Amino acid sequence: MKVGFVQNNPKFGETEANLEQIKTLWGNLSAELIVLPELFATGYQFNSKHEAKELAEPIPEGPTTQKLISWAKETGSSIIAGIAECDGENLFNSAVIISPNGYIGTYRKAHVFDTENRFFSQGNLPLQVFELGGIRVGVMICFDWRFPETARTLALKGADIIAHPSNLVLPHCPDAMITRCLENRVFAITVDRVGSENRVDGEELSFIGKSQVVSPEGDILYRASEKEEEASVVEIDIDLSRKKKINSKNDLFEGRRLDLYELN
Ligand code: ACM
Repeated sequence: MKVGFVQNNPKFGETEANLEQIKTLWGNLSAELIVLPELFATGYQFNSKHEAKELAEPIPEGPTTQKLISWAKETGSSIIAGIAECDGENLFNSAVIISPNGYIGTYRKAHVFDTENRFFSQGNLPLQVFELGGIRVGVMICFDWRFPETARTLALKGADIIAHPSNLVLPHCPDAMITRCLENRVFAITVDRVGSENRVDGEELSFIGKSQVVSPEGDILYRASEKEEEASVVEIDIDLSRKKKINSKNDLFEGRRLDLYELN
């Protein structure tokens, strides 16, 4: 199967223009699954809760989700994309999961990063694996990577692929995701943005790009640039993620020592 991503540089608050730019970068690329960055349509650095509320949208009724639904129908691709979600008075840093048949579900970022808690509540939905055309896709958002239990839970729930919309500001995630893939024998599609935002005094943020697709064997199948917008598609063999044995003796799931681990 083919999976792909679009790495963009959104202009803060310009949702419509950012959607257009995603479509331009996407171009004629064809893939069963396309992943977009965290908060890809709004930008990341809100400077007040009021501003975040103005830009957040209900899912699936909001215009950004509706636009993604229309693209999925048009292109035949499933889409997973980061969206600022409003649900009544609560805001969540969310990802929508969309198939060519329409809206499938939502994930709300479990581990909000740094000052995000000025606007966003912690995710209150389970870590979930979504069935997309026979492929099982687990979803997590950016800083969730720093908690290995997140990827492990998705893998134990049967994920073949972890879709990972991100806005990375620290350098470690792209390499750390190689380990997440090796630990769990899953594919991971980490999709970042580029550029910077300086909307809060003393808190300039630079995003590191390097969107990537990593295999269950820890191979980087594609890694994007640090500074440029781009889109790419990679062919993957999904069967690799369904074999958890790494040799004739060691199975990464069956070999776990639940009698020794302390996870609570
Ligand atoms: C992040 O979670 N956006 C760093």
